[in-house]
Order: sequence, then C-alpha cells, then structure tokens
Amino acid sequence: MVINMLNIGVLGYGTVGSGVVEVLNTNQESINKKAGNEINIKYVLDLRDFPGDPIQEKIVHDYDVILNDPDVQIIVEVMGGVEPAYTFVKKALQAGKSVCTSNKELVAKHGAELLEIAKSKHINFLFEASVGGGIPIIRPLNQSLTADEIEEITGILNGTTNYILTKMSKEGLAFDEVLKDAQDKGYAERNPEADVEGYDACRKIAILSSLAFGMQVDYEDIYTEGITKITDVDMKYAKALNASIKLFGTSKKVNDEVFAMVSPMMISEEHPLAGVNDVFNGIFVSGNVLGDVMFYGRGAGKLPTASAVVADVVDAAKHLGTNIMTIWSNKKLELSDIKKAKQKFFVRLSGDKNMNIAKVNELFGAVTDVEEVIAGEYAFITGEIAEGEFAQKQSELTNMLNRIRVGF
Ligand code: HSE
Repeated sequence: MVINMLNIGVLGYGTVGSGVVEVLNTNQESINKKAGNEINIKYVLDLRDFPGDPIQEKIVHDYDVILNDPDVQIIVEVMGGVEPAYTFVKKALQAGKSVCTSNKELVAKHGAELLEIAKSKHINFLFEASVGGGIPIIRPLNQSLTADEIEEITGILNGTTNYILTKMSKEGLAFDEVLKDAQDKGYAERNPEADVEGYDACRKIAILSSLAFGMQVDYEDIYTEGITKITDVDMKYAKALNASIKLFGTSKKVNDEVFAMVSPMMISEEHPLAGVNDVFNGIFVSGNVLGDVMFYGRGAGKLPTASAVVADVVDAAKHLGTNIMTIWSNKKLELSDIKKAKQKFFVRLSGDKNMNIAKVNELFGAVTDVEEVIAGEYAFITGEIAEGEFAQKQSELTNMLNRIRVGF
C-alpha cells in the first residue's frame, strides 16, 4: 500500500540519469509498491536545458535548491567523476539525505568516509550500480555472503574491453580495428583510456576488495595492465590452446596476504568466466564455506545501470531512518607485493625453437611448448613462477614479442 510521497533529486541527466527517469516511469506502480512510498522525482540537476523534453520542468542548475529542500529525502548521483560529485554527495549525507550512486570513481576513493557519514546520520549511502552495472554484486557481498570469509573475487568487470577482446577473438581482427568499430558503435568512448588501460576495472576491483575484506583498498596500489598490447596473433595462439584471453580484475587472500591485480589472462575454455562474452560482465566469488558463486549480466548501459540505481532508491526508501550496516573501514589494507604472487606465463619469442630453447631452458627450466601458429616464432608456457622473478628473467629475453599471464 502506498503511504507517502517520497521526493528524490537526480544529479545528472546523462545516459544513466535519463535511464533512472525511464525506469521509474516504466515500472512506476510496482516500484512504488515495493518501496512502500510513491517515489517522485522532484528535481533533476544538470548544466544543460532540455527544451521539448518533459524533464525540463524539473531541471535545476543550482545544487543548493535540492540540498536545501527538506522535502527531498533521497539523492541519486549519476554524474560520474570525483568532483563535484564528492562535494555534492557529502553535503547531501551531512544534511540527512540518503544517496544512491553509480559513480565508481567516487565510491573507490571516498566510499569508507561516505559510509561513515551515512551511519552517523542513520541514513544510507548505496552504490550497487558502481560495479557490474545491472548485476547484483554489492548487495550480495554486503548481505547474502556475510556467513563466508571471502577468499577470492575475480571478475570481467569492463564491458568495453570484453567486447573488444571477444570481437578480436571471433573475427581475427587487430586491436585498433576493433576499438575503432566499438567507438563508431558508441560502445567505447572517444577517449578509451580508462577502459582499455584497465583503470575502470581497477576502481571496480578496489571497491569489491574493500567490501570483501572490510578495509580500504586504494586503487592506486593495485597493479594494473590493460589490453592494448594484446594482438590478433595472441588470439590465434589462444585458440590453438583452446583458451581465450580476458581482462580480469582479481583480488585473492592467500594465508593472511591479499594480492590484487588487473591484467589480461589467458584462460581455458573450461573456466567459468570463459563464456562471458561481448559487453557482458561476470564476477566469480569464492567463500570459505559457500565455495564458488558466479554473477553474470550486463555490466554497462543505460537501463541495466539505472535498474541497479533504482533498486537502491527502493532500498533507501524501505530503510528511511535506519542505516544498513556496511563494513568498510577507512583503515588501509596493505596489499602484498605482486612480485611475490606466483603465476604461469605464455611467452612468444621471435626465432624458431632451435634458436631459443637453450636460453629458455637456462632461464625457466622445463617449459611447455605451444604448437606452431606463426612460422619463425617460438611460444611456450612457463611453470609457476613469482611475478618478480619472471620480470627479471624477461628482461634477458631481447627477442620477446609478448607475454600473457596464464590461468590454467
Ligand atoms: N566503461 C564501462 C564499461 C562502463 O565498459 O564497462 C561501466 O562502468
């Protein structure tokens, strides 16, 4: 039964903001029923005007109008970027308004502090859409999996790079060619750096790690490697090995140490994340009592992301005056040096096996040969070796064409 009118202010009328409006309009009746309130968008903050769009009557250009209106109880922040989002969100929480956001930069950098303010004010700071778009992953980590000690989170956390890698693999195309196609189709940004260099995935694994281990994981501490060095030839080798190459964000607890990294991985077709293709995301979580669990779905895009934001609005509406406890202390979690993490590597050298084998054996001992895909190249897979040791040996290989971490 609908009891009250609950006013919200939406900060940003871009892709996600307009999606939030659309989702609230499309499913108005069922959303209101689930929220126990009539959710009403009272204001939309944007620098622009939208003449001809019904949203125009709600558009304001001055944030203080929303902040100072006591009737607004929930703020939806979908502007992206750290500033001015951080200032706006902090002021909203300090004024006693719950905040729902899709902003991974904001959450990764200031999540612990904003959660603390929400707790002190008996309100909520919710961010389901900040990782995995429409895939439920924040709430499961915070609520459904609380009986477990999380031992590993590994995810394909970026839709753009997964689309590029999938297309390179399926169509045998080069990275640059596929990136251009992805930009033309609007999947990849004109400035694709945040996606292709792994920065987006890095912020997402930082958020998931902070939640899994209850402490602040600084994204600056996470070793991050993107997909720009992956070539069509690497894809051919992957096929010959019944494997695929994916960009993984990983966080693992080994004894009392936590290792985190973003990097391309060559994985066997049997791996649970191997079937996660195109713009889809997949997140694999391993808990000490539950075992393995997987989350799969659309990790980006207007409506999937808006669906997660609106679900947070419903949750905030159901918990007016009550803080949903989230364990994420601002105490920094010192990540272990990945130089100590052990890994197998796929390596390609110019020159055939005869030219290379003596040096390879001297450096790596026995290795596993990979069948010849390109004449005049030698490819092999090392045994498990510490990252630091590999880096040092790699520097002695002057004819190395590429190396990719191997997950099988
Ligand atoms: N650029 C991101 C992606 C959007 O491609 O996954 C969602 O965070």
